[in-house]
Amino acid sequence: MCRCLLLINAHTHTHNAERDWIEPTATISLRRHKWLLLPRSAKHNNHFASFHSVLRFPVFASSVSSRCCLSSDSNNRNLTLRLKASATSAAPVMDQPTSSSSSPDVSTIVEVDLGDRSYPIYIGSGLLNQPELLQRHIHGKQVLVVTNTTIAPLYLDKAISALTDGNPNVKVESVILPDGEKFKDMETLMKIFDQAIESRMDRRCTFVALGGGVIGDMCGYAAASYLRGVNFIQIPTTVMAQVDSSVGGKTGINHRLGKNLIGAFYQPQCVLIDTDTLNTLPDRELASGLAEVIKYGLIRDAEFFEWQEKNMHALLARDPSAFAYAIKRSCENKAEVVSLDEKESGLRATLNLGHTFGHAIETGFGYGQWLHGEAVAAGTVMAVDMSYRLGWIDDSLVKRVHMILQQAKLPTAPPETMTVDMFKSVMAVDKKVADGLLRLILLKGPLGNCVFTGDYDREALDDTLHAFCKS
Ligand SMILES: NC(=O)c1ccc[n+]([C@@H]2O[C@H](COP(=O)([O-])OP(=O)(O)OC[C@H]3O[C@@H](n4cnc5c(N)ncnc54)[C@H](O)[C@@H]3O)[C@@H](O)[C@H]2O)c1
Ligand SMILES: [Zn+2]
Repeated sequence: MCRCLLLINAHTHTHNAERDWIEPTATISLRRHKWLLLPRSAKHNNHFASFHSVLRFPVFASSVSSRCCLSSDSNNRNLTLRLKASATSAAPVMDQPTSSSSSPDVSTIVEVDLGDRSYPIYIGSGLLNQPELLQRHIHGKQVLVVTNTTIAPLYLDKAISALTDGNPNVKVESVILPDGEKFKDMETLMKIFDQAIESRMDRRCTFVALGGGVIGDMCGYAAASYLRGVNFIQIPTTVMAQVDSSVGGKTGINHRLGKNLIGAFYQPQCVLIDTDTLNTLPDRELASGLAEVIKYGLIRDAEFFEWQEKNMHALLARDPSAFAYAIKRSCENKAEVVSLDEKESGLRATLNLGHTFGHAIETGFGYGQWLHGEAVAAGTVMAVDMSYRLGWIDDSLVKRVHMILQQAKLPTAPPETMTVDMFKSVMAVDKKVADGLLRLILLKGPLGNCVFTGDYDREALDDTLHAFCKS
């Protein structure tokens, strides 16, 4: 899995004591420990060496820098590599930003840091061909793969092989649901329980979500409630799921009166993102996921937004390394927010930029008419319009948002059939309504800054709704 260079060489002299520092190629924080990432070699499939482990490798003098401490025992035979405890991010960057022309061969682990519920997100090409990645997260002997009629013919066999190769004791069952947002409901959820109960899945079983956000949300919710909670793994196969829905533990189903109104916070054991699965994704679905990528840039990562402005063409052309970078950076942003505010008491709500307007479009227009990301894109334009009316951002940012969404081939206005009343009635039952007050995520200040607030001039909201609706 790991194809990083490692700054360790068998012929170089050792360094004494703690005065020397070496730069690890990659570091991650995993289950509250800091780890060094080691290279894959023909013999070694295990890529991790712990913070305190003694490594029997001499080290390149040129690798000396500031992140990692090297010490040796008195006879210089045992070296200890220690990661300097300076990493502040919950989801450290493991490789450098890639341009669209660099190697597609990118593998990354982003850690979601939630104490004893922390988990890794594996990102890379061909990861479904690496059974050890999934199998280390399976505890019992029973696995239920939840997928749908579109994804099953494409990836179910591959996923089953990844779960069982070299591991004959594991019994895998699958349940193939009908495809579509309109089936993200209680009736379809029951099919997962039916299969689990008929297959006599016990408490140590693992549910595996193989699919987009709909499958991930439903399978996660089923895992949260089956026998009061069983193991759960996400294998997201859409951009939307890879950059957003598979990370952070929000699971659930829709109610006829609103999206995602029934659900639970339930974290997976791991998320495995095989970027090769995007090869079969329709263009429209691909663009839909980009709406969430753009969101991260707008709310908290100006540099990422600027990268997107330069690389949108590469993303639309499905350049593998551009995608690997966009997914990684999105997951890092989401992981960081989730680790700071898992249950959405404030910060996490900012991930819903454009979603209040967007959900109104999805609900008012009928689930499945517009894709989630398309509705979010139009909703983002509305939120940005309102931010501008409030005087919180300048018009150059409004233009940049229009431009990047158009570049991504996403809508910049709601469907013409949407009315002000339709928006208002759906927004009134939004989960962000508190004490009758609708709180919104709005941009404020320079690119990369936003607020989650109910403290805004109601007229600005009305003006925005009227500006985007004919009646
Ligand atoms: N839990 C969260 O935090 C969160 C965040 C964002 C979105 N969501 C939810 O995610 C859902 C939207 O997710 P989505 O956009 O992935 O939609 P989706 O799951 O409906 O998938 C989109 C379509 O692509 C097909 N598909 C999936 N992978 C494919 C592949 N590799 N090749 C070919 N076809 C493939 C699916 O069968 C489906 O037809 C919404 O229900 C939304 O509420 C949840
Ligand atoms: Zn979303």
